[in-house]
Amino acid sequence: MDNVPQLVQDRNAPPATLVIFGASGDLTRRKLLPAVESLARHHRLPAEFALVGVARTPMEDHQFAQSALGGRSLADKPQLQGGIRYVSGGYDDAETYKRLAETLDELDATRGTAGNRIFYLSTPAEAFEPVIRGLAGAGLNHAGDGSFSRLVIEKPYGNNLRTARELDAIVHAAFDEPQVFRIDHYLGKDTVQNVLALRFANAIFQPIWNRSWVDHVQITVAETLGVGTRGGFYEHAGAMRDIVQNHVLQVLALALMEPPASFNAEDLRNEKVKLLQAIRLPTDRDIADLAVRGQYTRGGTRDDLMAGYRDEAGVDPLSRTETYAAMRLNVDNWRWAGVPFYVRTGKRLPARLTEVALQFQRPPHLPIPANQLTDLETDALILRIQPNEGISLRFGAKVPGHSFRVRTASMDFSYEQTFAEESPEAYERLLLDALLGDPTLFIRTDEVEQCWRIVDPIIEHWENDSSPIPTYEAASWGPTDADRLIGRGGRKWRNAR
Ligand code: BG6
Repeated sequence: MDNVPQLVQDRNAPPATLVIFGASGDLTRRKLLPAVESLARHHRLPAEFALVGVARTPMEDHQFAQSALGGRSLADKPQLQGGIRYVSGGYDDAETYKRLAETLDELDATRGTAGNRIFYLSTPAEAFEPVIRGLAGAGLNHAGDGSFSRLVIEKPYGNNLRTARELDAIVHAAFDEPQVFRIDHYLGKDTVQNVLALRFANAIFQPIWNRSWVDHVQITVAETLGVGTRGGFYEHAGAMRDIVQNHVLQVLALALMEPPASFNAEDLRNEKVKLLQAIRLPTDRDIADLAVRGQYTRGGTRDDLMAGYRDEAGVDPLSRTETYAAMRLNVDNWRWAGVPFYVRTGKRLPARLTEVALQFQRPPHLPIPANQLTDLETDALILRIQPNEGISLRFGAKVPGHSFRVRTASMDFSYEQTFAEESPEAYERLLLDALLGDPTLFIRTDEVEQCWRIVDPIIEHWENDSSPIPTYEAASWGPTDADRLIGRGGRKWRNAR
């Protein structure tokens, strides 16, 4: 099943039990249980499906079933009735796994889940190791003949290249790589997959998708939210580990990689790895010119004043964690040599916006006097991942009137207006893929390593740099250093000040 090209639609899950570790946590409540509910509602789950939550917090089955969906119970779904269990216990306690194994056997017998199991690690990263060891200790890492046992792991996958490899060793001591599904929820977004459709289901874009036509590319993942209640976690992550190492580099790889021979899991992931390998590592001396960090301070308007990062719950008042990161990357291959890639991400920016923008070169010669070019920007193709999902092509057009003046205009494709179909939530899509055994939209071990290889030198450089961390006011577009970073190439950020 693993080699079937699965970017194909209309698939239904096989009989299986989904086991969520970290069942009382935030991600489970906000994303995973609603995703299960939606799969059930859309008839993607068979009658032979069961859900088991595991966590330390004591809870009854019905309380777990009720812990999401605004008080409505998951168990009210006819498809899930009688199929929800909760096992409470410590992650390093062998008894927990014994009870879990008994529960799974019982479900196989009563619901026909056929010995198929997905173990979803939605715990803090410290629990990954004890849970994997616990599963292996109870023999749950192996499935019986004709059944499957799979492991789905949330990020962060390690804290750097060394710890990612250590985690891999622990994972691979119990599970073979084809059993392992490392999640990056950005890959579950329809609009991220649409990068593949735009590039490879059309002929017209490919000829201009290279250094001959593209001046530079900007990738933005901007959030208006602050760290909220996740200060404790975020202190050890920062923007580079939280967003760049995974979401940004995944989107970048899809946007820049060579055309794969097929969309099957290995063809696609091979191309992503090749692209990531071609990203040039900055030397320690270059980093100051190529990477910028920042931390938000108090800001906003009088009516909507937002706390600074250091005043957030769980954050060290002297914290040096970056809530903003920007970088200039180079890709050393035939397609992209010499083209700069600017990426940026930040919390508490003025807008929520994720996009990839290809900025094209200026025409070689303009037969129009400069004073007739009103507000003419260079052509751009913008892939808007969220919100207002869509694609825009910006180009120069004649302003109506007797004189010949040219101004930038835009041709817009909007998902919402074009399609009646709704996009599934990213987690819904990825859960279904994991149930189907389709790893295409999951991260292979060599991709994780490549991504750490790229961000590690920068994080290390920042950790050793004792100068004050640059700041930016909440609800502004990041530190001024970021403008200098892109300005050195004579360019500026889109949607900037
Ligand atoms: C998560 C990060 O991976 O992605 C969060 O840990 C971030 O800090 C979130 O807010 C953004 O996801 P989305 O889907 O809202 O863009």
